[in-house]
Amino acid sequence: MATSASHDRVINFGAGPSALPLPVLEQSQAGLVNFENTGIGIAEISHRSSEFTTFIAKVEVNIRSQLDVPPTHAILFTQGGGSAQFAAVVMNMLARYKLLHPEKGGAETVLDYVVTGSWSKKACEEARRLTVGGHAQVRVVVDTRQHSRDGQSFDNIPPHAAFAFSPDPALVYYCENETVDGVEFAHEPGSATAFPYGLLNPNGEAKLLPLVADYSSSFMCRRIPHLADHAVIYAGAQKNIGPAGVTVLIVRQDCLVDVDAAAQLGAIPVPTMLSWKTLSDSKSLYNTPSVLSVYVTGLVVERMREQGGLPYYEELNRKKALSVYATINEGQEKGVFRRKVKNGSESWMNVVFEVLGEGAEKRFLDGAKERGMTGLEGHRSVGGIRISLYNAITEEQAGKLVTYMREFIIEETKDKQQ
Ligand SMILES: Cc1ncc(COP(=O)(O)O)c(C=O)c1O
Repeated sequence: MATSASHDRVINFGAGPSALPLPVLEQSQAGLVNFENTGIGIAEISHRSSEFTTFIAKVEVNIRSQLDVPPTHAILFTQGGGSAQFAAVVMNMLARYKLLHPEKGGAETVLDYVVTGSWSKKACEEARRLTVGGHAQVRVVVDTRQHSRDGQSFDNIPPHAAFAFSPDPALVYYCENETVDGVEFAHEPGSATAFPYGLLNPNGEAKLLPLVADYSSSFMCRRIPHLADHAVIYAGAQKNIGPAGVTVLIVRQDCLVDVDAAAQLGAIPVPTMLSWKTLSDSKSLYNTPSVLSVYVTGLVVERMREQGGLPYYEELNRKKALSVYATINEGQEKGVFRRKVKNGSESWMNVVFEVLGEGAEKRFLDGAKERGMTGLEGHRSVGGIRISLYNAITEEQAGKLVTYMREFIIEETKDKQQ
């Protein structure tokens, strides 16, 4: 169903909301008018209809099978984005801790935050806001700025020796991929820049770790290491798997706690809408979900399955990232580009760098725009260039950008070569 509008599309390298696969957008057009032959459009149909409840159950199965989520964990859909989860993780995990340790007061209740970039910093700030009355102590396990080149940038995953975890925290929080700063934990086991899972449980005891991960900008771009060891993994859909408006949660069953019982013991009362147990008990339908966003997300993950699932995307994303970083390195050697993130800490999904020279950044962005490529500006807080290479960006599209970057390097160094 190619329309003239689809022929006018540009390549969108934006960080989120971001590109979606064209076949999914075209399928969604049909679903907007008539969802699964009901004669009702997806934005009009009741979320309690058997057609929609069957659909959302299928989305869950599709995510569960592709990510290999074990039965110990529930998969839930909610709203409020990653930002609502900044609060929800604190409240639900504190409720869980209170039920496990009713005798412990706020002074003995610790929340551990690994701060590797702007989003984990923001999550940590939310934890401080919510515990200002003394419900818990927020501890920064490591702040990567202290290990950076200039002492103030988020440009690295620090050495494992720098991570100082508390002995029995109510939660340990990290952000797997920092969208603004382009810093990501490595996935290869044993890598110096992988998340130091081993340090959380050095004696290998049989215990349920309170590990919480924000996967908003790397969800389903490749497998999730140590998935089963996590208490909670969450991700806004709007980077890799759908439109804004739906957040996916993978929650271990022991974290689906009775928040009201915990509040009776002195934990922070939790709004019904933020309680993971409420969400789970209602099969993600406590209130009206973002039906349209769930639908488009469902189409994306179904397409992913048909294409070969995560092994296919892992390979595709590896290739795209390698070719873009190789080109940045070429530009760096010629004094045209400068990488911002240290080796081994760079993100597959959000590639950040600077274009050197007076007016050069604008020339780079203008040239990209002329060639039909947009969304390349760095986040407003840090500037520079950011290339987001989410799942929907094809190898061909990444290749077009790489070709342009090479042309740009040649153009910028022309005078030097003469
Ligand atoms: C890693 C990460 N976490 C959290 C958020 C906040 O998500 P939301 O805008 O869905 O609240 C973002 C947004 O870009 C993000 O990239």
